[in-house]
Amino acid sequence: MLSTLGGLQRYFRVILLLLLALTLLLLAGFLHTDLELLTPLFGGQAEGPPVTNVMFLKTHKTASSTVLNILYRFAETHNLSVALPAGRDVHLGYPWLFLARYVEGVGSQQRFNVMCNHLRFNLPEVQKVMPSDTFYFSILRNPVFQLESSFSYYKSYAPAFQGAPSLDAFLASPRTFYNDSDRLRNVYAKNNMWFDFGFDPDAPVEEGYVRARIAEVERRFRLVLIAEHFDESLVLLRRRLRWALDDVVAFRLNSRSARSVTRLAPEARERARRWCALDWRLYQHFNRSLWGQLRAELGPRRLRAEVARLRARRRELAALCLQDGGAPQNRTQIHDPGLRPYQSGAADILGYNLRPGLDNQTRRVCQRLVTPELQYMALLYSLQFPEKPPKNIPWRGAC
Ligand SMILES: *[C@@H]1O[C@H](CO)[C@@H](O)[C@H](O)[C@H]1NC(C)=O
Ligand SMILES: *[C@@H]1O[C@H](CO)[C@@H](O)[C@H](O)[C@H]1NC(C)=O
Ligand SMILES: *[C@@H]1O[C@H](CO)[C@@H](O)[C@H](O)[C@H]1NC(C)=O
Ligand SMILES: *[C@@H]1O[C@H](CO)[C@@H](O)[C@H](O)[C@H]1NC(C)=O
Ligand SMILES: *[C@@H]1O[C@H](CO)[C@@H](O)[C@H](O)[C@H]1NC(C)=O
Repeated sequence: MLSTLGGLQRYFRVILLLLLALTLLLLAGFLHTDLELLTPLFGGQAEGPPVTNVMFLKTHKTASSTVLNILYRFAETHNLSVALPAGRDVHLGYPWLFLARYVEGVGSQQRFNVMCNHLRFNLPEVQKVMPSDTFYFSILRNPVFQLESSFSYYKSYAPAFQGAPSLDAFLASPRTFYNDSDRLRNVYAKNNMWFDFGFDPDAPVEEGYVRARIAEVERRFRLVLIAEHFDESLVLLRRRLRWALDDVVAFRLNSRSARSVTRLAPEARERARRWCALDWRLYQHFNRSLWGQLRAELGPRRLRAEVARLRARRRELAALCLQDGGAPQNRTQIHDPGLRPYQSGAADILGYNLRPGLDNQTRRVCQRLVTPELQYMALLYSLQFPEKPPKNIPWRGAC
């Protein structure tokens, strides 16, 4: 009798243990998914105050104008100083290698918080202007599309493009059009991103050389965004900088109308990759590196959730701020001259109209989101240097 009772007890204990183990397993699975969903709100984001010393190497034709808007807005709303071009200039000396004296107010002020205007990277001179704890980052775009955009934007400026009837013709025999005669105006025609990082765009694509330069970029730049994966890049940028979601939400600025975009045939794309082989290597390396970091830090599920949050917030702001359903408009359709972007070459550069009837505070937030970069630079310049003559934006009123 006693022994049967003992056997029964043992039997129940085993069942109980099994049930307990099963519950724990289920709970663990459940908690795992939940933790993953909750971490964007709590953990994950490294602790500490937001990063406020930032240097963005603004490469050309890479969606960098949209990043500039993010940085200008952050600087303005946090009262940060920006290393702006001196005097009447709109670039920090580009295409010459950057020198500290290209910055307005250098010397009178020890260091700046934010540096983000076009320049050709030159670390020792940048370090004279920026604090030692500065977060360096940049952006790259697939060189095929970067070159295509460059061709349309700098068609009448770069001698190498002036002579070419089309990008296809240029790529079929680039040496016919591109030579060393006017190097500084031809920087847009070959390995332009490589050039922006301060390197030689005409260097032979030699393995040791390429690896050494890429390692140099990797040492200095904590993050390189990829235009083709812009929202994923912004998720990572926001984590690194510990900024709020609204700080990194932006509308696409300085984009072209569909009419201005040429689609290249596969052979032409291959030629573009060969012609801009240094840019191609740089791009491939940092595309891999971006995805490596995303995988290591977020995982696919959390990445999707974060990208969805970013896009939802962008849609919300577009519905709040923008007329015409948020579609970018060409310049003849933009009513406020202050919101008309600078036009260049054969490209129609698009901008936005604000919804009428916004209250003052909302209008102010919305206006910042759609202010084209040159107007925004002029505004920050006047705020920072009220005693200096304002930047002159001659095309502001022009239509
Ligand atoms: C912004 O910074 C300037 C100096 O950089 C300072 O004079 C001014 O008081 C600050 N304004 C606010 C609102 O913090
Ligand atoms: C270089 O290009 C310029 C104009 O693009 C042309 O006038 C000149 O003849 C070219 N020089 C050579 C050596 O091809
Ligand atoms: C960039 O990386 C992603 C993810 O690994 C990949 O799907 C994509 O093909 C890469 N792009 C290029 C142009 O190599
Ligand atoms: C601007 O857009 C309007 C309406 O879509 C179009 O009729 C006009 O031709 C466009 N102008 C230019 C310069 O593209
Ligand atoms: C809104 O701004 C306009 C013009 O800047 C000003 O005249 C008006 O008083 C402001 N309204 C409020 C409620 O602040």
